[in-house]
This record gives sequence, structure tokens and C-alpha cells, in this order.
Amino acid sequence: MRKKIIAGNWKMNYCVNKAESFVSEIKDTINTDEVDVVICPNLVSLDRVSDLIDGTNIKLGAQNVYFEDKGAYTGETSVDMLAAVGVNYCIVGHSERRQYFNETDEIVNKKAKKLLEKDIAPIVCVGETLEERENDKMFEVVERQVRASLDGIEKESMNKKVVIAYEPIWAIGTGKTATAEQANEMCKFIRDVVSKMYDEETAENVRIQYGGSVKPSNANEILNMSDIDGALVGGASLTNDFVAIVNY
Ligand code: PGA
Repeated sequence: MRKKIIAGNWKMNYCVNKAESFVSEIKDTINTDEVDVVICPNLVSLDRVSDLIDGTNIKLGAQNVYFEDKGAYTGETSVDMLAAVGVNYCIVGHSERRQYFNETDEIVNKKAKKLLEKDIAPIVCVGETLEERENDKMFEVVERQVRASLDGIEKESMNKKVVIAYEPIWAIGTGKTATAEQANEMCKFIRDVVSKMYDEETAENVRIQYGGSVKPSNANEILNMSDIDGALVGGASLTNDFVAIVNY
């Protein structure tokens, strides 16, 4: 039985003081062991949030990382730096990073592998654009992203650590949610791709989240679908809605 994983991606919101007050306010209500709860604040708030959630079941996630170990990469953050402040998960290949920062599948793959070296679980995001869906290209696009992003990742890591997030780009921040059936269909398709790349056991173990306008009113239906193992929540993770989603 796969444990659900619900992650809040704060994106570029909340300065450190607000991060601190918000986490203090909600942490008792999202401290559960029934699902894995992950908070992904901005980089500069990671350390403070890490202290605040110490001793709870809540996990810490980063929104990005660089794939080199150290050196002259101005502005970048290494996996060791994330590990040192207690990061357990890291989002890679979010569509906003693919769109605004030219993150390719190859870069996503390098980042995911580097995270795994230090035992941080990558949350690998994939998803099609509206145009790709309208032209019936979504399965092709998502399969290509999954194969390239996971290329060379060992089976053991796939079974224990890697999380995949299916986020149709047209549903992110738009208020438009994929129907639970559409989301489940693609998560099931991704599981089949993992099965072809690895084997059935690995496909059964890997957790696949849905992301894109998840809110309290749709969380229950989405999270009860057969192949959806959690949610990657953007906008709604910034308010008490996140509490309702975690307690779906
Ligand atoms: P949203 O964002 O919930 O605001 O649509 C989801 C995401 O980008 O991870």
C-alpha cells in the first residue's frame, strides 16, 4: 500500500517571518503519520522552517537545487547545502522552472541523480501543455519526460525515494483542475511507463502525485483515485486550505 504524500509548494511567496508564523500556526494540524506531509518554502526560509518542524512528522522540501557539488556557480545551491538544513525532498523540473529557467529533462535527470546520492528524495514533475493535450500529444510528451528524467536512476532509488508529480501545465494556478479521471488516467499511464522502464514491482511502489489547482473542494475525490498517491499543492498551500487538504 503506497502512503500518500501531500506537498505544499510555496513557490516565491512568504518571507522568513511570515514562513515562521504560518508554519507555527498550522503545524499541529498537519502533523500526522497517516500521510507524508511536506512543506517546500523558499530557500531562505528552509533553515527556520526546519527548526520549527523538528520533532514532528512534517518533512522539509526544497523547490530547486543545482547538480554540481560546489564551486563557482553564483546563485546556486548544492545538495549538501540542502541536506545540512534537514531537507528531505526536493522538487525538480517544475513546469515553471522548465518554462522560465530553461530546465530540460537532461538537467532534471542530473538534479534527481545528485539528490539521490545524498539521500534526498526528488519530486520529479512532468506534464503537458494545453496545446499538447488538445492535439492528443499528451501521452507521448509525458512518456518522453518520464523516460528522460528518470534515465539511469537505479531501481532501488525508484522503489524507496523517487516521487513523480503529474502536473498538467494548463491546470497550474489557473483554477482549472484536470478531472479526477483525467488525472488518474495519466498517473496510471506514468505507472505503466515505469513498469516498462523497471518492472511491475517498482511501478507498484512508486508514488505519483497530481498537481494543478488542488483545493479542499476537490482533494478528496482526487486523492481517492486508484493511481494518485498524493498532491503537489501550490496556491492552496499558502493558506489554511492546506490543512483541509492534508485532512482530506
Ligand atoms: P497550483 O500549483 O496548486 O497553484 O495550481 C501547483 C504547482 O505548481 O505545483
